[in-house]
Amino acid sequence: MYEPIIRFLKEHQSYLSGEEISRSLNISRAAIWKYMQELRKDGYEIEAVPHLGYRLVSSPDKLFVWEIKFGLNTKRMGQNIIYHDTVTSTMDAAFKVGMEGASEGTVICAESQTKGRGRMGRSWISPKGKGIYFSILLRPKLPPSEVAKLTLMAAVAVAEAVKNVAGVEAQIKWPNDLLVGRKKLAGILTELNAEMDRVKFVVIGIGLNVNASVSQLPSGATSLKNEAKRSFSRVEVLQEILREIEKWYGRLSVQGFDLILDRWKELSLTLGKRVRIADPSGFIEGEAANIDTDGGLLIRQDTGVIVKKMAGDVVWVH
Ligand code: BTN
Repeated sequence: MYEPIIRFLKEHQSYLSGEEISRSLNISRAAIWKYMQELRKDGYEIEAVPHLGYRLVSSPDKLFVWEIKFGLNTKRMGQNIIYHDTVTSTMDAAFKVGMEGASEGTVICAESQTKGRGRMGRSWISPKGKGIYFSILLRPKLPPSEVAKLTLMAAVAVAEAVKNVAGVEAQIKWPNDLLVGRKKLAGILTELNAEMDRVKFVVIGIGLNVNASVSQLPSGATSLKNEAKRSFSRVEVLQEILREIEKWYGRLSVQGFDLILDRWKELSLTLGKRVRIADPSGFIEGEAANIDTDGGLLIRQDTGVIVKKMAGDVVWVH
């Protein structure tokens, strides 16, 4: 019931009488009073003036479902949202609902994670209310070998979103780190549930440092606040990420991967650099020459031989 009440209050910036709300939403005035109390507990500032009614003064910066949905304007991404105050990892929660048949575009978000995970067995530090930690479920018609395309798609979408909302120009380090300068702003983790030749669903997990100060972040990390010197509404940032994912994911299925690849290359920090990538057999070193049509990184070794990597950690040599 929160969603219609909040929407009603937001749509009418002036005072609304209990009677008006009651009539429009078909709930009793006693119930409205109770909801208003609950909303205040959640951090909403709601004025109540005798003879005038209720007025929403401010909303908390929480990733509540009704906050994200208000003004989102997407067709699929974020049409189904599951909110957790605290969760082990939004990846686990997304996998669970994915197995239960949740629809494409389902978002699982959390204020904090106790076991947030990154790539290569690393953890993702998730200070409460300071960042955006969410996973989105996709059901692409792609073979498992092409799922890397989605990671690149998500990196482009997040880079575009932070530029639109915060004016922060992030670059992408292959395959999926978003950096400002050489500091990490966001990370993307792609996991899939697949059979040999068929993807059942993909979960893309995105962790973005928004309002954390540098002391709250691991070394080598940065946040939007640290870059832009002001705080941001996490709801607005998340909404823009969802809009951009919808846009770029749509392009992937309609126009193919080329547009994403072109934009990814423009935003890339990796191409043209001398890189080293860990491999079970040691290191591969050479020039990051190009991205293949399946999202793999092509490295030109000093011998001239070109090697393709689908995953790994890039270290710059120069
Ligand atoms: C990386 O840079 O290694 C990827 C980090 C991905 C972190 C996000 S936060 C939301 C989602 N839940 C997780 O446990 N991890 C991803």
